[in-house]
Amino acid sequence: MSEAIPIPHGLSVERDAGPFNPPSQITRLREARPVCPMVFPDGHEGWLVTGYEALRLLMADTRFSSRQDLGVIHLPYETPGMPVVTEPSPQVPGLFIAMDPPDHTRLRRKLTGAFTVKRMKQLEEHIVDVVERQLDELARLTPPVDLVKEFALPVPSLVICELLGVPYADRENFQVNSAKFLVKDQDLDEKMAAYGAITTYLAELVTRKRAEPGEDILSDLARDDDLGIEELTGIAFLLLLAGHETTANMLGLGTFALLEHPGQLAELRTDPSLMPGAVEELMRYLSVVDILYRYAAEDIELGGETIPKGSTVVVSMLAANHDPQRFDNPDTLDIHRKARGHLSFGHGVHQCLGQQLARIEMRAGFEGLLRRFPTLKLAIPSDEVKLRTDMNIYGVHELPVTWTETAG
Ligand code: HEM
Repeated sequence: MSEAIPIPHGLSVERDAGPFNPPSQITRLREARPVCPMVFPDGHEGWLVTGYEALRLLMADTRFSSRQDLGVIHLPYETPGMPVVTEPSPQVPGLFIAMDPPDHTRLRRKLTGAFTVKRMKQLEEHIVDVVERQLDELARLTPPVDLVKEFALPVPSLVICELLGVPYADRENFQVNSAKFLVKDQDLDEKMAAYGAITTYLAELVTRKRAEPGEDILSDLARDDDLGIEELTGIAFLLLLAGHETTANMLGLGTFALLEHPGQLAELRTDPSLMPGAVEELMRYLSVVDILYRYAAEDIELGGETIPKGSTVVVSMLAANHDPQRFDNPDTLDIHRKARGHLSFGHGVHQCLGQQLARIEMRAGFEGLLRRFPTLKLAIPSDEVKLRTDMNIYGVHELPVTWTETAG
């Protein structure tokens, strides 16, 4: 490990290659050594994986454990002074994103029926309605407006609330608190307080649903006696968080990226059949969920290196999705490319459960926005758009936009 490289705190903080491309240091690393030893800010050593092929192999290999404490909540990498993780952390009930098989399998299975392609297709019309209603509201406002607040965040929040049976009126709790613990530099006490506030709320909600189930996913789960209240709460937390923060940031950052590529934006407006491919390409190009963590449960060979048992392994999805060995001209947005095969929804047993839902929301969201707002443009210079380099899910904090007229 003598060649381990020190990585600055926050890996993706310096977007020195523009708002959409991997930081230049990461690109150089991927070229030099796609599986590379690294030193965390607190001095402990780990590994960083940036190459597409290696990352895909890693994600498919459950010897790379997902038991990294609370997944997005505790990150040894992001939290200076965090002690070295020497063994898989205890599991939080219900939070199956941070579990390994067979615990992971048991819980994920309970949800696969609710998120099948077929079930999601049935929801499509309804999601289009949600988008159109939100666009009606947007059209009533006097520009400039913040597109994140008025469109990108409400659409996925409304959809996931309805699916889960979480009252949208209570969104303040989960939107504010989830934002708090997605802050990279947040101290652990603050993160835990935010986590506690959401889970206290959700524990009460699932307890009520157990007593009086309704017609929603959390009620269906609450009918299952095999699941305890703590597990139900953990599952609710995971679905609620994963269901709104990710898609919201894709809609916000994706709109910014399209506005920065007016030629492709115009093509999409004239030919909406390009939208499904464009969404895949935006997923690849933007990789809003960039950094994930794994823990080597044994010594594992990867990309010609041996990762010793007990290592914390950091993966950069953004770097892998911009690997020229896999995608030609990877730092160029090209809505015509075949971008499927990107890793932005993960790969292997943890591959995103909500990916069909997310795709429907993004297609409907971008399509509606472009159709209804033909003159949409940024209301500030693009270099003044506030990027979420301080957050665990990348995107834009705000996207001030304006327009001169709307279509029907
Ligand atoms: C897992 C990305 C939307 C629910 C994941 C993973 C990624 C991801 C990368 C794998 C994590 C890992 O391997 O550690 C995204 C992106 C989205 C999105 C980029 C939007 C564009 C959604 C939505 C839901 C959702 C709408 C709704 C319920 C989940 C769940 C998991 C997951 C439950 C954990 C799966 C497991 O551990 O088996 N997502 N996601 N995601 N996602 Fe998504």
